[in-house]
Amino acid sequence: MKGMVFTEFLDMVENKFSADMVDDIIDDANPASGAAYTSVGTYDHQELVDMVVALSKRTEIPVDTLVKVFGEHVFTIFATNYPSFFADVPDALTFLSGIEDIIHAEVIKLYPDAQLPKFDCHFEGETLIMDYQSPRHFSDLAEGLIKGCGAHFGENLQIERNDISANVTRFTVSRVAA
Ligand code: HEM
Repeated sequence: MKGMVFTEFLDMVENKFSADMVDDIIDDANPASGAAYTSVGTYDHQELVDMVVALSKRTEIPVDTLVKVFGEHVFTIFATNYPSFFADVPDALTFLSGIEDIIHAEVIKLYPDAQLPKFDCHFEGETLIMDYQSPRHFSDLAEGLIKGCGAHFGENLQIERNDISANVTRFTVSRVAA
């Protein structure tokens, strides 16, 4: 996983908790890389999982909640860092429907070693179906990112989530009146 994800995570922990908490969870997780993350480096995604588990133990906030909150947060960072991805995109569902063919397709050009998930997306009427698949099983992160996308566009999204097979999580996303 790209280092930017780690650095954004640790920044979030510092801002929402403290710099001591960052040191503590690094000590607890004891990542093999040594935790000197740089945004362009690439690290084992398990190190991120281990730090989230450590944070969960220390804060007594469930792991899934922490990962979802991080997903929402990191969307705001992406939106700031990659404004061109938002040019001419009218709403959240249009943005989300292009995650595989447009957004992550550009991401892989910028970072050829990025490990991205697979999203199969299609509309049923006004509802967007997003089938998520990844060997890293970051459905909670995906849910947080989808929420963050709604917030970015100032929209109220209803997100339903079902594991439709061992490897595929389906997000059914629709816009509800604010
Ligand atoms: C401007 C918007 C976005 C950018 C620039 C972006 C970029 C990235 C990058 C750089 C990674 C890390 C890849 C790696 O570490 O190797 C990533 C991972 C991921 N992205 Fe996006 N992303 C964006 C929006 C979204 C949205 C809206 C979703 C959800 C629908 C999403 C779902 C994910 C997930 C779940 C992962 C974790 C990897 C995995 O599941 O295997 N991303 N993305």
